[in-house]
Amino acid sequence: MSHDALSVPTTSAPPYPTEPRPTPERPVWPRGTTALRFGGDYNPEQWTRETWLEDIELMKRAGVNLVSVGIFNWGLIEPREGEYDFSQLDEIMDLLAGAGIDVDLGTPTASPPAWFWRSYPESRPVTRDGLPLAFGSRGMASPSSPDYRRAAVRVTEQLARRYASHPALAMWHVHNEYGAPVSESYDEHSVRAFRSWLQRRYGTLDGLNTTWGTAFWGQRYQSWDEIDAPRRAATVTNPTQRLDFARFTSDALLECFVAERDIIRRHTPELPVTTNFMATNCPSVDLWRWAREVDVVANDHYLVAERPDNHILLSMDADLTRSIAGGRPWMLMEHSTSAVNWQGRNIAKRPGELKRNSLAHLARGADAVMFFQFRASRSGAEKFHSAMLPHAGTETKVWRAVEELGADLAALSPLRGSTVTSRVAILWDWQSFWAQDLEWRPSVDMQHRERIEAFYTELWQLGVTTDFAHPESDISGYDLVVAPSLYLVSSAAGANLARYVEQGGTLLVSFGSGLVDENEAVHPGGFPGPLRDPLGLSIEELLPFRLGETATLDNGGTADVWADDIILGSAEPVIRFTDGRAEGQPALTRNSFGAGTAWYLSTRPDAGTLRRILEGSLAEAGVAVEAPPAGVETVVRSSEASSWRILLNHNASEVAVEAHGRNALSGERLDGEVTIAAGDVLIVETPKQRG
Ligand code: GAL
Repeated sequence: MSHDALSVPTTSAPPYPTEPRPTPERPVWPRGTTALRFGGDYNPEQWTRETWLEDIELMKRAGVNLVSVGIFNWGLIEPREGEYDFSQLDEIMDLLAGAGIDVDLGTPTASPPAWFWRSYPESRPVTRDGLPLAFGSRGMASPSSPDYRRAAVRVTEQLARRYASHPALAMWHVHNEYGAPVSESYDEHSVRAFRSWLQRRYGTLDGLNTTWGTAFWGQRYQSWDEIDAPRRAATVTNPTQRLDFARFTSDALLECFVAERDIIRRHTPELPVTTNFMATNCPSVDLWRWAREVDVVANDHYLVAERPDNHILLSMDADLTRSIAGGRPWMLMEHSTSAVNWQGRNIAKRPGELKRNSLAHLARGADAVMFFQFRASRSGAEKFHSAMLPHAGTETKVWRAVEELGADLAALSPLRGSTVTSRVAILWDWQSFWAQDLEWRPSVDMQHRERIEAFYTELWQLGVTTDFAHPESDISGYDLVVAPSLYLVSSAAGANLARYVEQGGTLLVSFGSGLVDENEAVHPGGFPGPLRDPLGLSIEELLPFRLGETATLDNGGTADVWADDIILGSAEPVIRFTDGRAEGQPALTRNSFGAGTAWYLSTRPDAGTLRRILEGSLAEAGVAVEAPPAGVETVVRSSEASSWRILLNHNASEVAVEAHGRNALSGERLDGEVTIAAGDVLIVETPKQRG
């Protein structure tokens, strides 16, 4: 059979599906109260009945209205294959129902029991180095193992059937954090599934050979059976094979979710089904695709305790979560009351931080604030993790803060369903990250994540609320779109970005963008691929810097990491290098294209320069900026009736702000200068004018 390489499917059409599925018939929020949701993971299997009763009393005292139960109890409810014992779970469900506390019921498939591993050892995930992973920790089996999939749907079916009409059941929590700790698995089941996935994607071996560029280093395949997972090899493995394996892995995990979800939907069509994501912290699943499959987006976030800017990273994570949720309210499914236990130094939160963190998520669209976990575990790997109820009990700062948060969330119920709007978007594409994180890129210092954080941080300091968007999605509603080191730009994304500028948008692109297409091949005609036209320039050669090398700019700033040998087309230079390897070359250019403007920043400038560049492009885009006092975070949520300005003071000293309206936490009237205490939060409610 002869095959035409041009028949290779690409992601160029249809447009990348990033909007949530239009599923008006699906429930999008846990059944029950109209209040904001408050609670956490609850693991009663670790405790005696006496403790359960105490826990439930304490939950009521704190205002807990939702707990996630059963996430790690597979071994308890199915002690031997096919034998079920729901006695403990029945009792817990009944007790919670009696107390009026709703349940987000987990399927336990993130941690199969001992019998599973003994019966199905070939289901163990295998690392890239060929090491099968053992039992004794947690983590699912190979996502492509038929034995795992069968066992997972069987236990899900049992749960869904048993609890479908239980009064405590408000929603479903499938699995736990797909993609962590198991993502890519190099076992034999995965290899076979990968081959089928490739056959569906490429149709023909010729198509695969062309797209993977197997002519290079003599890698041509003559039969599908010759194709393996991209295991560790003598030197760098084919990058397109690796990118496809990453795509395959995200899809294989998603199939596992969908299989469980569909069983549950059959039993409880009236209840939402979700799984907990880790928006900025789980690189192995493409959440733009995943978010379309859940009824409500749920997210877990843990502060990187060591980083002094961890509150900014929290905001970024929350903004990304809101964006993948398509702007709809989302659930903060897990965060910590204080220390987490898996970082090098598990730094406890300081007074006020639990409230600030919780309300920062709420400010950015969360309508549920939940923790891992209700009661701290005495044994096991996570005993040094904080909880709502610490080891030291209720006479503690943490417990008091939990009770206060419960009261605050009750006062904030009217925010339920209100939304956040943004006129600025940063482009975020997991597939680009997968490609960029491979070996032998132009410079190890070209870090997309570091650049996204840098751009986001400057926008945060300016008080600009930012969405994230997929480069192929509809971005026409944004006034400014920023692409920080977007290494992979598909042809469809290139056309989308060009159209956006042509129709009047403002685009700011930073170095290292558009280097490859969706198949990890350099775009024909050179860098930066389809962005050459809107940017009005082309790049003759990439000029990455040596480690530690810096250059000066003619605006008085400095730069490092990168420059380009730019050939200007219609773009004008705005800032130039005054020395170094790119002396005289433009560091920042501006191009009018159609009705819009595209900026190109060919280097990593100092933070002050980056701030001024952003201010310039925001002004050009017509986005008015009213920077809050330093260290104060400000976000607005609105409903038809009211808007709420949420101000979080991250400083160690009080700040004065101007506020008119009602203090949504205390009920007090505000009309003039108000002081926000060090580390505190002010929420100003302003009713909307009617008529
Ligand atoms: C999450 C996980 C929880 C718990 C928590 C500790 O990633 O879902 O089960 O392990 O981390 O921080």
